[in-house]
Amino acid sequence: MSRIIALSNQKGGVAKTTSCISIGACLAETGQRTLIVDLDPQAHLTIASGLNPDDLPVTIVDLLAMADEPVDQVIQPTSVPSLDILPADLRLAETEMSFYNHPDYEEKLVDILGQLRSRYSYILLDCPPSLGGMAILALTAAEYALIPVPCEYFASRGLIRMMDIVEAVRKRTNPGLAYGLFVSLYDARNRVSRQILEQLRDHFGEHLFDTVINIDTRLRESTMVGEPITTYAPQTRSSQQYRALAQELVSRLEKKNSYE
Ligand SMILES: Nc1ncnc2c1ncn2[C@@H]1O[C@H](COP(=O)(O)OP(=O)(O)O)[C@@H](O)[C@H]1O
Ligand SMILES: [Mg+2]
Repeated sequence: MSRIIALSNQKGGVAKTTSCISIGACLAETGQRTLIVDLDPQAHLTIASGLNPDDLPVTIVDLLAMADEPVDQVIQPTSVPSLDILPADLRLAETEMSFYNHPDYEEKLVDILGQLRSRYSYILLDCPPSLGGMAILALTAAEYALIPVPCEYFASRGLIRMMDIVEAVRKRTNPGLAYGLFVSLYDARNRVSRQILEQLRDHFGEHLFDTVINIDTRLRESTMVGEPITTYAPQTRSSQQYRALAQELVSRLEKKNSYE
């Protein structure tokens, strides 16, 4: 059964999409079959995987519309062996609006992913930068919310709302939801970065990952060429940091198992 992880934070530009494709590629690199799922109407994950959303005859939008679309026709391979994607397109914004007429919409993704859980070791969900229906859908389907945080002064304040949502989803639809945070844009040249990291550690304790991801323009470039960092620049520090992050995630998930 696959482990399902939602990359979630209502703030945009915190590296959710970059982390989704990078961690996915790192897990696939170790031979684990991995699926990344685009849940953002902007379809950045789809584009970052080298696909053009406008060229795709079917996407996750068709699965969520419950048009009995076979899931196999929607899954696309990526340039990385063992890494597949469920792509999105712009119509996903309308899908999210339609949720408000369906009181049980939260379970829709659970049903779709249920068909795939025997085929993938890991399923990573890339959430949009909001805490609307799509984010709730993802947090209901996931066992773990992985929250990227930039290393900036107001980071922990902005996270209060995110934590409220995790708590609300636990109460309503998914009592087993666990979470962890990691610093996704660490500026080593900025003197206060270390201080902020310590504040985050004080605030979130064990929930904060040991691994941090430094700011690196190669990550920006890799998104633009539609390739994960691990194949675009496999030996760089960012690649190594994302490999370490993926390993830390795997060991945290295993540890979580032993408590259950
Ligand atoms: N560690 C990093 N260093 C430099 N740029 C980064 C890093 N991580 C992500 N980026 C860039 O920051 C921008 C926002 O990242 P993205 O993954 O799209 O965030 P989100 O999905 O949270 O909106 C993108 O242009 C991306 O290439
Ligand atoms: Mg994104």
